[in-house]
Amino acid sequence: MSNELQDINTNSAFTPFRGTGGIVDNAVHVFAPATVANVVCGFDVLGFAVNEPGDEVIMRVTDKPGITISKITGDDGRLPLDPAKNTVSVSVQHYLNSIGRADIGLDIELHKKMPIGSGLGSSSASTVAGLYAIKTLMGDDRDPINLLPFAMKGEEMACGHGHADNVAPALLGGFVLIRSYEPLDVVRLPHPKDLWCAVVFPDVDVPTREARQIIRNKIAMKDAVTQWGNIAGLVSGLFMQDIDLIGRSMQDVLVEPVRSMLIPDFYKMREIAMSNGAVSFGISGSGPSVFAFTRDEQTARDITQKLQQHLTALKIGSNTYVSTINDAGPRVIG
Ligand code: HSE
Repeated sequence: MSNELQDINTNSAFTPFRGTGGIVDNAVHVFAPATVANVVCGFDVLGFAVNEPGDEVIMRVTDKPGITISKITGDDGRLPLDPAKNTVSVSVQHYLNSIGRADIGLDIELHKKMPIGSGLGSSSASTVAGLYAIKTLMGDDRDPINLLPFAMKGEEMACGHGHADNVAPALLGGFVLIRSYEPLDVVRLPHPKDLWCAVVFPDVDVPTREARQIIRNKIAMKDAVTQWGNIAGLVSGLFMQDIDLIGRSMQDVLVEPVRSMLIPDFYKMREIAMSNGAVSFGISGSGPSVFAFTRDEQTARDITQKLQQHLTALKIGSNTYVSTINDAGPRVIG
């Protein structure tokens, strides 16, 4: 195995904070990416980050202990400014408590650059941007994976369940497998560099909390066998850089048959994507966004355009995004 693969697959251990607890900077501006969770067959265990869209947090150190949120943009007034109710401040507070610096004063500006409830890990992108901002201000040079438990607290607050398949790729970048939740065991996966992702967000409301409630709790053994064959096939395809194997493994017999009912013309959109060169097509996270993998940028752009035209004919507005897989995760932009 090449050194590169060994690096990717080393399961990052959680490391205790060994910094001084001193603040190394007074302000920072961070971007964190949107993510596609589940990747069709891997409900709650697979996800990857994209280059766009993403959310931004500006964090400033203040004189008064405690966290304030002075501004949120791009949310149409839907997100709480109350720091006890906002996922960004709550997860940052958990982080500060964990390093014994609950006394620090912080002000947060959150700039939403993607629709809320889109199935693109909107709350995760905000939470991860906030956590990466405080990590930077504290000069905490541990692997970002150490922020994952705090990010999961934010996810639990946002939709009632602390799944990691959005927050882990938003934090680490790339393709990520949640091998286990108890104990938390996260594996970075390789992926073909020339895999493109076409995302379409149909402007209908599908809250994750509700999209989780409609899923069946019990499944048939026959369906389980199909599903774990597909998950293993997808992970093998990622390692082997085999885009055909990736494509034929992305079939979901457990969740998609139920959740597709919440998405306008889901099966027609799949037909459009697949007949225009997609490698695979499915629901992004809990929807309503859908995504397709393609082998090149132009095919991804053609598919988003055709899907958008179809939705427009149904009088449904939409946003589209075309991206490769984002290996960088969050980054300081100012
Ligand atoms: N795995 C989660 C779900 C992702 O499908 O509910 C939510 O975006």
